[in-house]
Amino acid sequence: MRFPEDVPTLADELITLRAHTPADIEPAYDVCQDPEMQRWTTIPVPYERRHAEQYLTEQIPAGWRGGSSWAWAIEYDGRYAGTIDLRPGDGNVGEVGFAVAPWARGHGVMTRALKLTVRYAFEQGWDRVIWRAFTGNWGSRRVAWKCGFRNLVTIPGGGVARGVRKDEWVASIARDDEPVPQGNWWRVPVIEADGVRLREFRATDAKRVAEACDDERTQYWLTGLPSPYQVEDAEGFIESRQENLAGGEGVSWAIADPDTDDLLGCVSVFDLRNRIDKTMGEIGYWAHPDARGRGVMSTAVRYVIRHAFTPIEVGGLGRRRLVLFAAEGNTASMRVAEVNGFTRFGIERAAGPTRDGDFRDAYGFDLLVTDAGARDGKPGAER
Ligand SMILES: CC(C)(COP(=O)(O)OP(=O)(O)OC[C@H]1O[C@@H](n2cnc3c(N)ncnc32)[C@H](O)[C@@H]1OP(=O)(O)O)[C@@H](O)C(=O)NCCC(=O)NCCS
Repeated sequence: MRFPEDVPTLADELITLRAHTPADIEPAYDVCQDPEMQRWTTIPVPYERRHAEQYLTEQIPAGWRGGSSWAWAIEYDGRYAGTIDLRPGDGNVGEVGFAVAPWARGHGVMTRALKLTVRYAFEQGWDRVIWRAFTGNWGSRRVAWKCGFRNLVTIPGGGVARGVRKDEWVASIARDDEPVPQGNWWRVPVIEADGVRLREFRATDAKRVAEACDDERTQYWLTGLPSPYQVEDAEGFIESRQENLAGGEGVSWAIADPDTDDLLGCVSVFDLRNRIDKTMGEIGYWAHPDARGRGVMSTAVRYVIRHAFTPIEVGGLGRRRLVLFAAEGNTASMRVAEVNGFTRFGIERAAGPTRDGDFRDAYGFDLLVTDAGARDGKPGAER
């Protein structure tokens, strides 16, 4: 191919992908000063003007001429907004890489650019396009998810940036795959009502999480928790919430005091990808010791039920059935289930391990979306 004459222009209503020009050197250099850009890509750091010059005037044209990579400038709002490239590989499989300027992020630019390039790759005879990102690059992962990339795996040490190995996510899309999101990527809506605030966990909650989970009663009933439970465990828990959401597994809310925003507890709906029933969910919770005994959890669960039974199309979890388990003797937990209209359906014998190596019975509760009052968060009220 000749550069720039043979570089195809790809466009939709908002963006255009075109050959780079020398006028892009300056804005490309600017983009590469961005700390996010340096953190998530393999560009040289410090990034100098000569790097941008070399990339745009030598590397990119050589890629087109030799067929080793096809890089486009992304034009958005009349300006250079970033670069996306395809790197063909053997056997009709290749990789994609991309970056957009900070000012253009969050407007769907990269989602559009990726859709256009993936379609182009398949038109050129590719069978599969591979996306890779360092773990933790949620923006990139979401773009790939929105475009239908799937079967994500994590490869420990799979990536390398400036000589340092890093964990890497890899996902791909094949020619016959529908370019639409696979699975749910849940969000955590803020719910503020009746004296509680439900919101996303944040890093600053770690100390209160550790206090709550290292508490004697929490440790007694939730035997799966690390013991002792330390601030590092809390940090790991908070960090892993994002994976839970992105993987469609579950949603956890921090229950916070509406005045101080201090953490009072946690309520989760999980097992949302249950193999047998994708319309069920399990509710679990714990409260900080200083928040117990004043109805905080009952209220929080009430609003979580309402969200869980709200259809996915309008932002809910689209659940049909919720279950909840409480170990024999855990009266407070059973009370939360009962005041929220759950029906006790039975006892799972010797279901829950205790810390001393024994097994305790667990009481099972369930609530169906068809139960009176369940949908509007007032289950039980009308019974
Ligand atoms: C990743 C990047 C390309 C995204 O570009 P973009 O144009 O902002 O992407 P889009 O607007 O099309 O979509 C971004 C989506 O990710 C979401 N997102 C961004 N940051 C996120 C985060 N930290 N957690 C969860 N979602 C996030 C946005 O909300 C948006 O989703 P939505 O439209 O459903 O709300 C851009 O941030 C970037 O250039 N980063 C630096 C370079 C880089 O990481 N390149 C990829 C290397 S693999």
